[in-house]
Amino acid sequence: MSLTMPVGPDVLASVAAVDPTLRGDIRSDHAGETGAVMIYRGVLAGSRDPQVCRFAVAHLATERRHLAIIEAILAPAQRSVLLPVWRIAGWLTGFLPAIVGAHAVYATVEAVETFVDEHYEDQIRKLPATGAAGSLRAVLLTCQADEVHHRDEARALRGAACGFALRLWTRLVDAGSRAAVVAARRI
Ligand SMILES: [Fe+2]
Ligand SMILES: [Fe+2]
Repeated sequence: MSLTMPVGPDVLASVAAVDPTLRGDIRSDHAGETGAVMIYRGVLAGSRDPQVCRFAVAHLATERRHLAIIEAILAPAQRSVLLPVWRIAGWLTGFLPAIVGAHAVYATVEAVETFVDEHYEDQIRKLPATGAAGSLRAVLLTCQADEVHHRDEARALRGAACGFALRLWTRLVDAGSRAAVVAARRI
């Protein structure tokens, strides 16, 4: 991933001056990337499967990069006050399927990343391609491309097996992700 220009809080300030909803969006992105880092830490705490661990280590590196990018944009005072909650929820979202098995980890990541793709897409659609908004848009496009890759990789590894309990769990993960974004946009 390479960004053509650095994006900092000044860019968000100028974009949010035109569309104030962007500040809440970026706060939710920061909460989400924080949770994503914790998902893979949870997976690594719960799994001994070599393929799952390689998958989690590679994804963790990408999510850490995303988090650093969003941290550079969103000043600490503007971040979600519920970050401790997002960290615990993220860790459990990785740890619980990891103790069940590889297929549960991949199905969980597929569910999370399917939602995250839509989440970034909603923001990208609001942003013009030029000026400060354009540079923020480029950042979100880069993150989104990585999330889509994560989703497709998890989907390919998951295989066809998906029982009732796992379908229920992935629905819960999807609903939880949506609720977290609503909350993180506000606080
Ligand atoms: Fe990410
Ligand atoms: Fe991701």
